[in-house]
This record gives sequence, structure tokens and C-alpha cells, in this order.
Amino acid sequence: MERFRVVGGARLAGRVRVPGAKNSALKLMAATLLAEGEFRIGNLPRILDVEIMAELLRRMGCEVRLEWTDESAGTAFVSVPGEIGHEADYDLVRRFRASIAVLGPLLARCGRVRVARPGGDAIGSRGLDMHIDGLTRLGARITTEHGFLVAEARSGGLVGATVELDFPSVGATENILMASVLAKGETVIDNAAREPEIVDLCELLDAMGAKIDGAGSSTLRIQGVDRLWPVSYDTVPDRIVAGTFGVAAAMTQGDVRVDHARPEHLRIALDKLVAAGAQVSADPDGFRVVMERRPRAVDVVTLPYPGFATDLQPQFAAMNAVAEGTAMITENIFEARFVFLQELARLGADVRTDGHHAVLRGVPRLSGAPVLSSDVRAGAGLVLAGLVADGTTHVSGIHHIDRGYAGFEQQLRALGADITREDDH
Ligand code: UD1
Repeated sequence: MERFRVVGGARLAGRVRVPGAKNSALKLMAATLLAEGEFRIGNLPRILDVEIMAELLRRMGCEVRLEWTDESAGTAFVSVPGEIGHEADYDLVRRFRASIAVLGPLLARCGRVRVARPGGDAIGSRGLDMHIDGLTRLGARITTEHGFLVAEARSGGLVGATVELDFPSVGATENILMASVLAKGETVIDNAAREPEIVDLCELLDAMGAKIDGAGSSTLRIQGVDRLWPVSYDTVPDRIVAGTFGVAAAMTQGDVRVDHARPEHLRIALDKLVAAGAQVSADPDGFRVVMERRPRAVDVVTLPYPGFATDLQPQFAAMNAVAEGTAMITENIFEARFVFLQELARLGADVRTDGHHAVLRGVPRLSGAPVLSSDVRAGAGLVLAGLVADGTTHVSGIHHIDRGYAGFEQQLRALGADITREDDH
């Protein structure tokens, strides 16, 4: 086990480059299962989940070579055979929730699939009902046995249908989309998720020969095709990592240029930084955040995209903890995300929660203490809090942070932060 030792007080300054989005990369890798041949998926973040997804693809019979170009990014070369396996075991699946993304592609390609129900972050109940209902609408029969989801298409394969999601679930939209591209006829997904990572997946599938209309809107229309082909594709930059560095710059009253980010994917978050008092300048390849004062408190309400991202909520909570004034945070996506606020309180934050609302009264300074990250974004929030706390903060449970941030401490150190990785006894 390892932990981060963060000594507070540094003002972050310099440039940082954002790698590809974890939440896209894993789905793009899963989508390779839809076609036989040689894929190249570039701009991957160098994180454990990418390695686990590579291992999962190998179990399906693919050959996967990961080439890392530096401490944060790399490329996957995936060779998908004509006949692929259709079983994903618990030993891999339990290690990350995104493994459920192989359900749709395997069902489309093999007509049947057995996938262990995933584990992942401890941030809420994270049901699979919308995945299951959607695939059932396409004609799959789905049962659960011994911890596995078993799905089988009818003898002629999946058939297009209209699926109305109760909620724009990212994972359910992706699974239904990946299943539908090889189904017979037209599929319509209503109330689909609109996240940039969904658009990225649609663009990959389009390049592979799929016919999809409406990417980025709440209605996706898919005309099934008989077969798809392999392609070379680069992952969209990670908006959450980019946003994390933006908040870090604002909190530490720093000056950080975030390269290779898409500011249009972070409109609300960047507007919030402006409301907090930062100067934000954006161009098509990134943005710069300059802060010359103590941040002002900003309210945050998490919602499906284009609303404020739940994955940036803990980082903004950390900023509000040291802001001037009082902020209300409303978490609408994952009910357990406020566990993190108890850790923030250990650093001296003045926080009160009531259901899915939290009120943070900014204090002039936090004070370093040992804290534990409960999920990847909570971990990032705690590191940011450590950057502005007096003395030393030890952040344990950093395997969570490593799942979403490639070379996090190296990148923060390059900006002037005092952060080191050490054994957690
Ligand atoms: C993805 C992201 C995660 C992000 C989230 C919301 C990945 C690997 N993870 O997670 O970082 O925070 O989108 O932007 O891409 N739900 C159900 N039934 C379902 C599906 C979802 O009840 O069938 C619930 C979940 O419990 C959760 C909410 O819907 O409360 C949102 O889930 P969803 O949008 O599916 O998020 P994920 O795809 O799991």
C-alpha cells in the first residue's frame, strides 16, 4: 500500500498536459471487440484500468500491446481474432466497474455473453437495471447466476428497437449503443447520455463503419450494419483531469496552463472558476487559470452532461473549503460521494451535510492530517486540499487516485507542488 505525502503552501505555476480520458479509453478498448482485425487506440492514459482492460481483451483472445510514450500516456495495439471468447471472469471484472462495457459488444458480436457483475469505486449503488432493460429491448434474454450476468440474443441476433432510458446513464447508453451497431434495423436511444465520452465512442464506431445519428444529443439513432472494420483512433482529452488542474491552480492562487484539453467540455466548471475570482483564458487546445486572490465560494449542482460533472464535485468542495463565503453543494448522481466530506472535515473544513446537500463554510486555512480516499475523485479532492493545508497531509488509499490520474504526483511536482509517494505502513 502507498500514500501521498503532501506539504501545503506551494503556489502552482507552469504548464501541464492532459492525457486521454479514462472514461472514454476503456469504452473505446471494449468497442474493438466489435470488429476483427488490427486496431490502434492512441492517447490512452497510463493508468491501471487500461492495463486491466487490456488483460480482459486478452482473455477474449485478442492480442494487446501497450506502448507507453511517457509517464502519463500511451497507445494500445489490439489485434481482434475472428472468433472471440465471451466470458469475463470475476477476478478481472471485480477490479473495475467499466468492465461492464464489454457486455454490449460481446453480445453483438457473439450472440451470447457471461460477464461477472463488476465492483469498482465505493460511490453508490450503481445499478445495472438500465443496461439490462435496454439490451432486453434489443431482444436479449438476460439472467443472473452465481454472480454472473448471462445474456443471449435470439437465434437471428439482436434486433433494433426503441429504448427510453429512465435517466441518461453513461454506462447504459454505451452498452446499448455498442450492442445496437450490429443489430438488425434501427435502434433509437431516447434520453441518452450526452457526455463527450459518448461522442468519442460514437466517433470511433462511425469510423468503424457504424451508422449513428445524434451523437451528443439526447436521441441516438443507430442503423445496424452487417459488419464493422478496425481503425486507428485517438482518445478525447480527459476533461476531469483538466478540470482538476484548473481547480488546483485556483485554490493555490497559482497560474497554470492546461494543454491538450477541450475547454468546450468544461464550460460550467470554468465559469465557476471565473465566479470564484480566477482569470480563465481558453483556446481550442487548452486553457489557462490565473488566480490572484482567495477564491470566493461557488455553489455546485451535479447533473448529467452538459450539467456540472459529479467527477469534479470533490475538487470544487476542496476549493470551497478554503473559500471566502459559504457554498451549497448538491450531489444528484452518486449518493455516497459525500463520504469524502468527512475526510475533508478532518483537515479542518467546516461542512454540514443533509441528504444530498452539503453546506461548506470557507475557513482561511486547512490543517494537514492523515486522510483516506474513498474513490478516485475524492482522492484528487483530498490531494488538492492537502496543497492548501498547513503542514503535512498523508493521503492513503491512493490506488483509487492511480485509477484515474496518470502520473498525478509527477505532474503536480512539475507545477511546484510538494508531493511524494511513500509506503503506507
Ligand atoms: C460514468 C463514469 C463516472 C461518472 C458517471 C457519471 C465511467 C467508467 N465512469 O459512470 O466516472 O461519474 O459516468 O457521469 O465512465 N444507474 C442505475 N442503473 C443503471 C445505470 C446507472 O441506477 O442501470 C445509476 C447509478 O447508480 C448512478 C447514476 O445512475 O447513480 C449514474 O450512473 P451512470 O451515468 O451509468 O454512470 P457510470 O456509467 O457508472
